[in-house]
Amino acid sequence: MTTERTYIMIKPDGVQRGLMGDIIKRFEQKGFKMVAMKFMQPSEKLLSEHYADLSKKPFFPGLVKFMATSPVCCMVWEGQGAVATGRQMLGETDPAKSKPGTIRGDFCIHIGRNICHGSDSVESANKEIALWFKPEELVDWTPTEQQWIYE
Ligand SMILES: Nc1ncnc2c1ncn2[C@@H]1O[C@H](COP(=O)(O)OP(=O)(O)OP(=O)(O)O)[C@@H](O)[C@H]1O
Ligand SMILES: [Mg+2]
Repeated sequence: MTTERTYIMIKPDGVQRGLMGDIIKRFEQKGFKMVAMKFMQPSEKLLSEHYADLSKKPFFPGLVKFMATSPVCCMVWEGQGAVATGRQMLGETDPAKSKPGTIRGDFCIHIGRNICHGSDSVESANKEIALWFKPEELVDWTPTEQQWIYE
């Protein structure tokens, strides 16, 4: 059984618009296992670290400021192909290019208000999980439905 994990974070716009339940539901119903979740107000410092790869982009200061305007919902989801499938479930960065049926395709319009973050590789997932969670916050458990999800 694979233990691939991805970092999914509902952004301030997703929280403010009351979409946390809808987003969590999609990962839950897909069959992924929740390993950690917390609701918190992130600092600009933490967000700058999270988006460090984008620090040279013109939209970076606005992105960090926006991400610190409201609480976020931080989650770790586990399962086979969780990183790549998680990205597919989110849709494209620009909601206008996201297919209906994806989270961004169904719930948002503008690239700067795309409601949810998802790790883009296993390597960045591991980095992001370590940045947002302490090891003891990651819960070790076995869902009873596992045998009905994996052959
Ligand atoms: N051209 C842009 N104009 C404004 N905001 C942008 C632009 N490109 C990206 N962003 C914002 O920065 C975030 C991070 O950009 P990135 O290239 O990592 O896209 P992503 O991986 O799809 O998004 P995320 O990392 O938030 O999951 C995007 O989700 C978006 O909100
Ligand atoms: Mg990204």
